[in-house]
Amino acid sequence: MSSFFNLQSEVIIGNLTQTGLSNWLNNHYAECKKVIFVDSNTMEYCLPLLINFIDGLENAEIIEIPSGEENKTMEICFSVWESLTEYEFTRSDLFICLGGGMICDMGGFISSLYKRGMNCIYIPTSLLAMVDASIGGKTGIDMGPYKNHLGVFSFPKKVYIDIDFLNTLPQREIINGWAEMLKHALVADADHYTALENFDVKDSIIPLDWVEKSLMIKHEIVESDPKESGRRKLLNFGHTIGHAIEGVLLNSEHSMDHGLAVAHGILVEAKISRLLNRLTSEEFERIEKSITKTFELRKFDEDFISKLPLLMRQDKKRKDNKFRFTLLSGIGSGEIDVVVDESVVFDALQVLL
Ligand SMILES: NC(=O)c1ccc[n+]([C@@H]2O[C@H](COP(=O)([O-])OP(=O)(O)OC[C@H]3O[C@@H](n4cnc5c(N)ncnc54)[C@H](O)[C@@H]3O)[C@@H](O)[C@H]2O)c1
Ligand SMILES: [Zn+2]
Repeated sequence: MSSFFNLQSEVIIGNLTQTGLSNWLNNHYAECKKVIFVDSNTMEYCLPLLINFIDGLENAEIIEIPSGEENKTMEICFSVWESLTEYEFTRSDLFICLGGGMICDMGGFISSLYKRGMNCIYIPTSLLAMVDASIGGKTGIDMGPYKNHLGVFSFPKKVYIDIDFLNTLPQREIINGWAEMLKHALVADADHYTALENFDVKDSIIPLDWVEKSLMIKHEIVESDPKESGRRKLLNFGHTIGHAIEGVLLNSEHSMDHGLAVAHGILVEAKISRLLNRLTSEEFERIEKSITKTFELRKFDEDFISKLPLLMRQDKKRKDNKFRFTLLSGIGSGEIDVVVDESVVFDALQVLL
């Protein structure tokens, strides 16, 4: 077991039964009400593990919402606030998020606004939530097509990372988290990338120390720049293109998982880095190989590609047809705010054809 502080949250890594969660509940919340916030999958697969092994949660209320990003809405938040009010929860009671990034983001948001902020802890159950969403204090919900449009920075008191929850996570979701793990390694740790690039995530169980390494990379980056004024933008690698792809496909019958979109984004943005001579051709090929062996990349046509820059508008400096990207200046080394000509972006997008 290990633990450290990420900004205002204590992050505890290890088997839940050995992390002292029961003691902590008994010492601080014995007389308090508790609520466990789950989606339909974590209710089925994760809640029994929590309730059966941790003392002190026998009488917790359960608030279940349907699974899926489409439910990360204000309407559902409102119904949860109504339930908390009906159960007569106060600010000093405890809100427990048990789920993936959707539950942690939304539960963090709900608990931070209820009566100006009630106590909250996260127990992330997806790989993506363990290495990414549960670290760094960003909470929020979507508004129509705008992802994470409403939100606040807010920190759970504790984040408990137990990789045993991954045993029931579908492979497709493991792969979504893997994209963020590759991203963390690419922007910050060449040795870690060398370990990941040779690993077959489809047929093996991810070692705990890699999950730990990946979340430590995120931790170190967000700690150095909590409000994203500079260095935190390293985490945007793969995401400018990734978000644009997700955006174009949103609400179409071919919508794409975030992790898979980021994998496409990593490939294109590595290509931009190559075209600007920041990566050698060998380095680009290593990245291309690790992406294509794990992700089932989609082939797009010219028409689709031509729509992407429109969605990258927000990153665009309007005057002179240039974009700002986080790129790589070598494997394990990210570089923020690189100004890139639209023509270079178009050339790099050709890898998607
Ligand atoms: N706050 C941040 O810094 C941050 C960073 C990255 C992503 N996010 C957010 O995280 C969300 C994506 O996270 P996600 O990929 O975990 O999505 P998710 O929470 O929707 O989980 C993916 C799927 O896996 C299921 N699931 C989760 N744990 C399970 C388990 N142990 N066993 C079986 N099924 C399980 C869920 O029910 C869901 O169907 C997005 O909303 C994104 O905006 C936030
Ligand atoms: Zn992401």
